[in-house]
Amino acid sequence: MRKTATGIIKIAPSEITPYEVYLSRRAVLAGGLGLAAAQAVGGFSSDAFADAPGALTYVRNTRFSTTESPNTYRDITTYNNYYEFGTDKSDPAENSQKFRTQPWSVSVGGEAEVTGTFSLEDILKPHPLEERVYRLRCVEAWSMVIPWVGFPLGDLLKRFKPTSKAKFVAFKTLYDPKQMPGQRSAVLDWPYEEGLRIDEAMHPLAIMSVGLYGKVLPNQNGAPLRLIVPWKYGFKGIKAIVSINFTERAPHTTWSLGAPGEYGFFANVNPEVDHPRWSQATERRIGGSLFNSRRPTLPFNGYADQVASLYSGMDLRKFF
Ligand code: MTE
Repeated sequence: MRKTATGIIKIAPSEITPYEVYLSRRAVLAGGLGLAAAQAVGGFSSDAFADAPGALTYVRNTRFSTTESPNTYRDITTYNNYYEFGTDKSDPAENSQKFRTQPWSVSVGGEAEVTGTFSLEDILKPHPLEERVYRLRCVEAWSMVIPWVGFPLGDLLKRFKPTSKAKFVAFKTLYDPKQMPGQRSAVLDWPYEEGLRIDEAMHPLAIMSVGLYGKVLPNQNGAPLRLIVPWKYGFKGIKAIVSINFTERAPHTTWSLGAPGEYGFFANVNPEVDHPRWSQATERRIGGSLFNSRRPTLPFNGYADQVASLYSGMDLRKFF
């Protein structure tokens, strides 16, 4: 182990504790120090999974959580979009089980004072975990309610000290066609890339997720590190992140590059702006009964009070 000029400790891959063990052990240490994180093991879900491998300790954040009932663990982990592991909803759960999430590192570059390659442990170390129950609204007009475990994206980004030129932040997924069979075909332009304007990224609702339902994130949901921006369509929530880059100009994003008329950079959930091939006015809640599963789509996915001001003065039909 050694200190770098930036004060962030770099750890050789051989020294790395398996990621699940690391996360669980870290929580126990926090408890020993009497931190709030360990006292408020929270959530309706924690009991059911408390003894499960990969169980996490976290604070339940009610301020930022919806009170809607979450989807089942089964729905959330078997109905996925993750084209690196196939295009059918059941493919990611089937094809991602052997995906290696440790050792894992994230490279940080561009318009920031602190750049370099950091182990996942370095990335996670200072951040207490929270559970936040968010609606996930997919651009395909279905939705789920998911109890994520993570921490504010802005807290992580601030550690890299973005410069005044950092107007955007870009993320990339791992490119490893040996492990990710979907990357062997040209269904998308690989690696998967996403980005946010810097003020969006710093908004307290945006999180980096490392778990759901109180446990370490399953591979199909984007382990080991995945972005969640609850007021935007689900495709902004890039999985298996290996790169964070601060940029002056808007970065490429996979879906808006592949089909610019269909998927915009902003991708704010908006019932009034239809996809060219389907309406966004309503959505189908996965797992709901046939009678109540269709519901109106909410502007900004129900988070308008918190985020609409980020877009004041912008024509949201043009910047969709
Ligand atoms: N990230 C990567 N790397 N590859 C993908 O295909 N799909 C996106 C997003 N993140 C995707 C991705 C889409 S379209 C959605 S709706 C969400 O992940 C789905 O997240 P979930 O499977 O955890 O529900």
